[in-house]
Amino acid sequence: MPLTLAVELIEPGVRLITLQRPQALNALTTELLGELAAELNIAQADPDTRAVVLTGSRKAFAAGADIKEMAERNLVGILDDPRQASWQTITRFSKPLIAAVNGFALGGGCELAMHADIIIAGEDARFGQPEINLGIMPGAGGTQRLLRAVGKSMAMQMVLTGEPIDARQAQRAGLVSEVTQPEFTVERALHIARSIAAKAPLAVRLAKEALLKAMDTDLASGLRFERHAFTVLAGTRDRDEGIAAFQEKRSPTYTGQ
Ligand code: CAA
Repeated sequence: MPLTLAVELIEPGVRLITLQRPQALNALTTELLGELAAELNIAQADPDTRAVVLTGSRKAFAAGADIKEMAERNLVGILDDPRQASWQTITRFSKPLIAAVNGFALGGGCELAMHADIIIAGEDARFGQPEINLGIMPGAGGTQRLLRAVGKSMAMQMVLTGEPIDARQAQRAGLVSEVTQPEFTVERALHIARSIAAKAPLAVRLAKEALLKAMDTDLASGLRFERHAFTVLAGTRDRDEGIAAFQEKRSPTYTGQ
């Protein structure tokens, strides 16, 4: 039983993971990151899980690495930090991951949200990389993913001043796809997860992989990958089922083959 998060099977295809360290605004301890990585491994291995929604509380998605733990253990930046292994597991998660963000998403919390494929934010969400205020810098992908998400000028401003942006700014910049009233953030994310869970799993997996390729490869290589993935999907039963269902005016039943 995880102690720092709750896991709910919303329906066979969709899992909801809720970070639960309210006393520290869901600050990311080694334990929390380890438990999150373990839950994502379970979701990854479960063939019925098609999408995962990750959320926190109304006040905080996550306020960053746990500064008290950082002070005690001085682990940040050390390569054999056990947290590195957890972050790698989170990075490698290949099923759709949707973050439902209310309140603070700061430091490692913002970096965690940016590991998601889609971010839905409540109107009160605040995204920031305040590490500079502690004499350090982002270390879980913040400089690389933030710049790709919001562009150079805003990323520089956020990382060098440590000042957060609000949900609307995040949406305008492209960090967030939708802004909702805070009470509907999780519901909206679950709705999107259900929609994705109903699609052909192989198509979803390859489409996600192709989109992520666009973040770290040149156009020609990305297009090559896309053509290859498209060709693979053309030979699947789910492709035949999708087309047959359209022609027969019924909902498709995908098997993942
Ligand atoms: N680590 C540990 N505890 C934290 C925390 C954190 N990152 N953020 C908040 N808390 C704790 C506070 O210490 C407080 O606990 P106590 O009452 O026991 O002191 C409790 O959560 C509530 O926080 P506040 O009273 O500060 O709440 P607030 O509403 O006044 O302020 C806040 C909220 C602006 C988010 C403020 O808490 C804050 O600035 N937190 C730190 C944010 C930060 O600097 N994050 C980056 C961490 S470094 C990092 O993330 C690096 C990395 O991953 C590689």
